[in-house]
Amino acid sequence: MTMGTIDERYLRYRQSLQQFGQSHLLTYWEELTDPQRQRLLDDLDQVDFARCAELIDPYVRNRPVIPLPERIEPVPALPAEPDAGRVGFYAKAVEVGTTAINGGQVAAFTVAGGQGTRLGYDGPKGAFPASPVRSACLFRLFAEFLLGTQRRHGACPRWFIMTSQANHTETVALFEEHSYFGLSHDRVRFFRQGQMPAFMPDGRLALADRHRLALSPDGHGGSLRALAASGALDEMRACGVEYISYFQVDNPLVKAIDPLFIGLHALTGSEMSSKAVTKADDLERVGNFCLADGKVAVIEYSDLPDELALQKNADGSRRFDAGSIAIHVLSRKFVEKLTGRGATLELPWHRAEKRASVLNEAGQKVEPNEPNVVKLELFVFDAIPLAHNPLVLYTRREEEFSPVKNAEGVDSAVTARRDMVRRAARWLEACGCRVPRDAAGEPATDLEINPAYALDADDLRSQLTTLPVIRPGCPLLLGGE
Ligand code: UTP
Repeated sequence: MTMGTIDERYLRYRQSLQQFGQSHLLTYWEELTDPQRQRLLDDLDQVDFARCAELIDPYVRNRPVIPLPERIEPVPALPAEPDAGRVGFYAKAVEVGTTAINGGQVAAFTVAGGQGTRLGYDGPKGAFPASPVRSACLFRLFAEFLLGTQRRHGACPRWFIMTSQANHTETVALFEEHSYFGLSHDRVRFFRQGQMPAFMPDGRLALADRHRLALSPDGHGGSLRALAASGALDEMRACGVEYISYFQVDNPLVKAIDPLFIGLHALTGSEMSSKAVTKADDLERVGNFCLADGKVAVIEYSDLPDELALQKNADGSRRFDAGSIAIHVLSRKFVEKLTGRGATLELPWHRAEKRASVLNEAGQKVEPNEPNVVKLELFVFDAIPLAHNPLVLYTRREEEFSPVKNAEGVDSAVTARRDMVRRAARWLEACGCRVPRDAAGEPATDLEINPAYALDADDLRSQLTTLPVIRPGCPLLLGGE
């Protein structure tokens, strides 16, 4: 970009920022080098100032008071295994889902734009070595799931991956370096999500440096807008994708493409479907599927009153028992409806007070001990109440959910590896293998099944020609190096 162009852009911003009360963002302009000026202008281009202006009073200067729904009731959800009356319906759903996958109507969609602060891993979270024997990274496991789907269904689903400004280049480089983990390049499409500025409590945008805005990804709910803005949604339409299989980058157990789930979504005419697990305990820190004033919604654990979270049914079971695991199927047309021209349905913003290293009035960088900025994020589950006929399907946690969120403890790399080994052991035992176990009943060695080799226990049964012999302390990998 030429010097003249920088000047033009500067002049435009000088005027508009004044209008929006954000002139301080240009305070250091005179002392910046040309590349720094370019950088600052690029950051400013990322911000929709008119949209931010509308959010400052209700969300930044004030804490929005979001009233709880008047009626909060348990959500009607389909069981993981069909009861007697639903055997035929579930079989039909598998058939419908399979036809959709075979016909290329289903795309996988991974949201991988998060900052992964809790894990503290140096690199995109998808590059995190997650599997027990090979230390295969999360992206590799999902790629192999798609290869397994191709083996089973003949067609390899397209894979859309949402990155952030911060991790996009590194993510693409990882795929390049590993030859797309065996997938054909043209099946994988990356796009960046939008960013939101961090606000100072008075409503002014914070500077991360004299030539940088403090920007961060706009939340996983930003994925819907990013699908549209990036052109990914148009590509989906052009190549006949009807169903978007949405999952997070941090769950190595996820069934990236699930014929039953897709089939149930299609058969019930749902626009957005969700998987739920039975909560581990009453106050588990997961969102709760509820009927909120009659509409299916997720109420965050911090918002569900304890008195409700602790309620029991007459048989002693938990009344609010359906925990959200952020696995969804969205109809492409539903996302188009939410994001298309003239769309009036908006997701609500969630406010969080965070610590961020930003410039103070004197232009010095401060490392705060207390939250000093307000960040606003969108959550994808807020689209559920906007959907027609939203479906909730229970699934078995031990088969499908063990996220890598934290460096240690609950939902960490250690628990995810443990759960991968436990699942592999169950599948092997279901096929008739003897799995040696230790005194605590845990498998006595690390076990790993490459998803490209087997997608579930039945698949494994059809793949095994002989039963492997498993010895304590001798790790076993099935399917590939
Ligand atoms: P989390 O809420 O766990 O956030 O994201 P995170 O950023 O990964 O981790 P922390 O909270 O900083 O420790 C759940 C999923 O949503 C994606 C993440 O990549 C993850 O797959 N996500 C989150 C986005 O894609 N964009 C965002 O802006 C936020």
